[in-house]
Amino acid sequence: MESFVWEWGSMLLRWLHIVAAMAWIGSSFFFMHLDASLKRTPEIPAGEGAAAWQVHGGGFYEMRKYFVAPGHLSPDLTWHKWQAYTTWLSGFVLLAWIYYAQSRLYLVDPAVMDLPAPVAAALGIGALALGWLVYDRICRSRLGESETGLAAVGLLAITLSAFGFSQVFSGRGALIHTGALMATWMAGNVFFIIIPNQRKVVAALLKGERPDPSLGRQAKQRSAQNNYLTLPVVLMMIANHYPLLFDSKAAIPLIVALVTASGAVIRFFYNVRHADHARSPWWAWAVASAGLATAFVLALVGSAGGRSVLGLPPQAEGPPAVTLASATPPDHIVELVAGRCAMCHAAEPIWDGIGVAPKGVRLDTAEAIGRQAEAIRLQVVLTHNMPPNNVTGMTDEERGVLAAWLKGTAR
Ligand code: HEC
Repeated sequence: MESFVWEWGSMLLRWLHIVAAMAWIGSSFFFMHLDASLKRTPEIPAGEGAAAWQVHGGGFYEMRKYFVAPGHLSPDLTWHKWQAYTTWLSGFVLLAWIYYAQSRLYLVDPAVMDLPAPVAAALGIGALALGWLVYDRICRSRLGESETGLAAVGLLAITLSAFGFSQVFSGRGALIHTGALMATWMAGNVFFIIIPNQRKVVAALLKGERPDPSLGRQAKQRSAQNNYLTLPVVLMMIANHYPLLFDSKAAIPLIVALVTASGAVIRFFYNVRHADHARSPWWAWAVASAGLATAFVLALVGSAGGRSVLGLPPQAEGPPAVTLASATPPDHIVELVAGRCAMCHAAEPIWDGIGVAPKGVRLDTAEAIGRQAEAIRLQVVLTHNMPPNNVTGMTDEERGVLAAWLKGTAR
């Protein structure tokens, strides 16, 4: 029962998280596009505002932007903040639900570092908090005055964090934390900078004073940062479905750097194009394609299966995995899993069409099977999701044998 509740909770949280993120990223794209398409209008003095026309849903919108102070302010002001807050909050609970509460399965890889669950969680949360403080400092420093300088330092910070996370967590744990760090920057920008600055501007306007223009500029800087982070952050969030991205610990920081830069450069293309189609920087696509192709080669060379396809010698094995003695399965279970699962779930799968162990789940040694005990319960006993479509012909009797073994292992 507990496993079912756990799984259902995870589904609900993910649902909420994805919907909120769609709303947030959607509004980020919308406003970046709107800002880019603004044109001078005779109704607002030069330098103080601009306007854009849009057609949508059967009507026409004339949208005006006042850079600082409009002549009057409507009391019905729509704020854009709960998309961001809901995304971050649901994402954080989801992170805790999956990676901290089930850390042995997803976050802690004993071959990397055998962390106790509370320590792993504290490390993850601590890194997110520290990461925000460092990022905020950088944005406020002189570096923050140059958009390119800030982008370069931000990319370096992301790469170094991915490296740091890959030294303590499992591959997927490292990628999800790198993504969570970027998402924390984004939500922090909204919560600590953009919204408070806008509040100050609104308060000044209501008092009939002229607001400090630097408040708007600072908010715009953070808003642009968020926009460049959107594509990379989404990839980090879905990365856990693609073990090729994290199979090689050594390649993780470089792969993260390459996909982050590629995603940001694609955003750059659209930001420029939306301002002026004639100036579309088509080179951005060449740069992004080269970045993603390089990441692919790194991922291939880093994975055991990829190396054997390329005819490269296997990499040295890391230290043998250690695991909970109670979960270590007896020989008849290891044999059963070898016969029904390990053709796909191995360092070098032999199943046609499977290049790396699906989702990074390896079931080719007793230790590995022991570590996956809970996932096996869910995929094979509680549901019949594995083997996929029962391609390897697992019998109900065999599922019963696994269930009997799992009865004896603690959650
Ligand atoms: C024919 C190849 C194949 C066989 C055989 C196979 N699996 Fe899988 N397994 C997959 C694929 C593909 C996925 C990824 C599914 C996805 O992306 O949703 C997967 C995913 C998994 C996952 C991770 C699920 C998740 O969502 O995190 C577990 C655990 C798992 N398999 C266990 C097993 C067990 C146990 C067996 C044997 C009883 C088995 N698999 C047999 C191909 C296989």
